[in-house]
Amino acid sequence: MLKRMLVVAAVALFALPAQAERGDPERGAEIAYTCSGCHGIPHHVNVYPTYRVPKLGGQSYGYIVHSLKAYRSGERRHATMEAQANTLSDRDIHDVAAYFVSLTAEDNE
Ligand code: HEC
Repeated sequence: MLKRMLVVAAVALFALPAQAERGDPERGAEIAYTCSGCHGIPHHVNVYPTYRVPKLGGQSYGYIVHSLKAYRSGERRHATMEAQANTLSDRDIHDVAAYFVSLTAEDNE
């Protein structure tokens, strides 16, 4: 009985923060390496000078997560971003969003 209660408590402890908390910005920074060529994060040179891409620094967490899920599902259509989002798991999306919201709009020139 006690063992069973401990298992339930342990599961609750692990399950809850994963749902409630934001992603991990440090892991997100590694994922964002592929995004940086286009989205022009600090110290990265934009490889497409004539290509207009949205700034991600300064955007809200919920918006970035929502946009990436919409590209992944095809609800929002853009060939390049659909291809990018298709490679991301839910955890990747939350981690990369946590990284981009840690930047300010000025960082993301
Ligand atoms: C090859 C260039 C390229 C790469 C690489 C790229 N993006 Fe994008 N991204 C774009 C373009 C162009 C748009 C605008 C698309 C549109 O009009 O919907 C965009 C849009 C977005 C948006 C929506 C922003 C808004 O203001 O609505 C998000 C969020 C985003 N990208 C995240 C990422 C992430 C995260 C990665 C890396 C996993 C990534 N992108 C990699 C070019 C790129």
